[in-house]
Amino acid sequence: MQKIAFMGAGIMGQAMIRNLLKAGFPVTVFNRTAEKARVLEPFGAKVAPSPRAAAEGADIVMSMLTDDAACRACWLGSQGVFDSRPTANAILIECSTASHGWIGELAAHAAKSGLRFLDCPVAGRPDVAVAGQLNMFVGGDAAALQTVRPVLAAFTKSIVHFGPVGSGIAFKLIYNVLGATQVASLAEAMFAAEAAGLDIRAVAEGFSTGATGSPHVVRHAKYMALNRHENPVQFSGRNRIKDIRYGVEFSEQAGAQSVIGRAAAEVFGQMIPLGMGDLNDSELIDALRVAHGRPPAAKT
Ligand SMILES: NC(=O)c1ccc[n+]([C@@H]2O[C@H](COP(=O)([O-])OP(=O)(O)OC[C@H]3O[C@@H](n4cnc5c(N)ncnc54)[C@H](OP(=O)(O)O)[C@@H]3O)[C@@H](O)[C@H]2O)c1
Repeated sequence: MQKIAFMGAGIMGQAMIRNLLKAGFPVTVFNRTAEKARVLEPFGAKVAPSPRAAAEGADIVMSMLTDDAACRACWLGSQGVFDSRPTANAILIECSTASHGWIGELAAHAAKSGLRFLDCPVAGRPDVAVAGQLNMFVGGDAAALQTVRPVLAAFTKSIVHFGPVGSGIAFKLIYNVLGATQVASLAEAMFAAEAAGLDIRAVAEGFSTGATGSPHVVRHAKYMALNRHENPVQFSGRNRIKDIRYGVEFSEQAGAQSVIGRAAAEVFGQMIPLGMGDLNDSELIDALRVAHGRPPAAKT
């Protein structure tokens, strides 16, 4: 069995690691906050005190971390993976939603060390991760992907190979901007309907059953109408903003435009000064209420 080092036992990482263990893979986990890694011990995980220690002797080193800063700390920081000597054939896998620039930088470090690298971001909320049903978007060498496919299959339902290194994250960033703009537009539309005196539950039903009813709209309209948001937090407003910023930057660098993406970042940005950045993305509707001088809705 391939030995796996996994960095990041956050909401998504926990679920992915549990599925790897369930599939029989030996997994050594590093998490900045050690307690979150330790809860995985009863399921068979080993806990390492640093990324470097986790990666020692691993066949596959993967991470699921917040953003570029978190990835940089774990891969390149002191006691990071590149301080260690993973097995000569180790394959490095970045699952985090990081920027396209970071993926290029990490791939260059891997190449310099003679290690194979795949960018493998995923789509799907934490409940989908728990069910082992994530969609994965891969960039990198096809033979390396073939080698790690049985490992990735432990927590995915589909794996789409987009091409060379960087193409997986390229798709994921564009995909996430599209998703985020739907949630931002929905919050604005629901708030507009409420402000106009319409019954918000009827509005949610109308959006969900009409041609507007994408999976994002169906899921979030329900939370927004009932003001009953996912608990614990599944995907924060702050993470939405991070993803949109990386996506907008990438689209613009590619020579395209992201007018709607920029607007979505602005809409979600209203959560931050209100101290709501760490709440679920669906709570954006409450930020809009407060920003327009209305009281937040009572939680049901
Ligand atoms: N949640 C979703 O619905 C979803 C879906 C698809 C993709 N994603 C992506 O998956 C990634 C993880 O998301 P998540 O929802 O699992 O977030 P999360 O629960 O907040 O976990 C974030 C992880 O990153 C670590 N981290 C943050 N800053 C760090 C730093 N400076 N140094 C070292 N470690 C650091 C955290 O460690 P601590 O425990 O010490 O804070 C934790 O392990 C993100 O890129 C996100 O965009 C999320």
